[in-house]
Amino acid sequence: MARSVGEGFNLLVFIVFLHLVFPLLCNSETCTKINSCVCKFSNGSVINLTPLASKDTARWRDKATSTNDTYRYFYNPCFDFKEGPADSPLEDCSTEVAACQVSPDHKLYYNLGNQASAQFHWNNTGNVLQLVYQAPHTRKQTNVTLVCSSESSSPKLDVLGEINSGSEHYVFNLITKCACPDGCPLTSPHTDRGLSTGSVLILIFFIFLTIYVIG
Ligand SMILES: *[C@@H]1O[C@H](CO)[C@@H](O)[C@H](O)[C@H]1NC(C)=O
Ligand SMILES: *[C@@H]1O[C@H](CO)[C@@H](O)[C@H](O)[C@H]1NC(C)=O
Ligand SMILES: *[C@@H]1O[C@H](CO)[C@@H](O)[C@H](O)[C@H]1NC(C)=O
Ligand SMILES: *[C@@H]1O[C@H](CO)[C@@H](O)[C@H](O)[C@H]1NC(C)=O
Repeated sequence: MARSVGEGFNLLVFIVFLHLVFPLLCNSETCTKINSCVCKFSNGSVINLTPLASKDTARWRDKATSTNDTYRYFYNPCFDFKEGPADSPLEDCSTEVAACQVSPDHKLYYNLGNQASAQFHWNNTGNVLQLVYQAPHTRKQTNVTLVCSSESSSPKLDVLGEINSGSEHYVFNLITKCACPDGCPLTSPHTDRGLSTGSVLILIFFIFLTIYVIG
């Protein structure tokens, strides 16, 4: 009995050790997706793009790029929108989209991903958070880099477009205070907070302590 408690205690020490060392080794943040435009860092800070979103239409419409890409772009965080005629429903923007590309003559619309596909990625190289959308029936992807700007009063979308021609990766920079941790707090407080890793470890510790004392 005493031996298994000792082993249990070793395991506990090992878990605590992993918990302390692992974040240092991988040096990678994760922002856990709450919904298509809200995520939460492990320290509890929240990124919330909801105040930027329009309903049923794109907040940013028919935007030209700041590069040599001559296409135009539509983007809306949080809620899907529809744009243009339905030519080929699987690939155009007449179904639900988060981002859409239109040809310079405004004839062809391309689905660049919908809200359901939204994923938050921490980019270690740039030390920035990216919101990535995947188109449902093509390889097209939209990478929105969330640029924290505490002083900018009005949010700005900088469309870089398809930087590497043929990559089918479309790159936007979203410059806003809502990209700063807790820059745009959630209005309705999140009631079900759950247990943090720390509380779980303390709980495990007391369970082992109880077993140790009783046994
Ligand atoms: C929480 O973590 C994020 C990501 O590392 C960081 O940017 C933010 O400042 C942290 N929040 C607090 C309150 O320390
Ligand atoms: C963009 O266009 C300018 C002028 O037409 C040209 O000099 C430059 O090489 C182009 N850049 C790329 C990345 O194609
Ligand atoms: C990370 O960001 C850099 C620029 O900051 C970019 O060149 C690179 O492609 C990004 N990596 C990923 C995996 O998104
Ligand atoms: C876009 O995001 C994907 C997924 O993280 C990544 O593989 C790709 O390199 C990114 N592209 C750019 C241009 O940032």
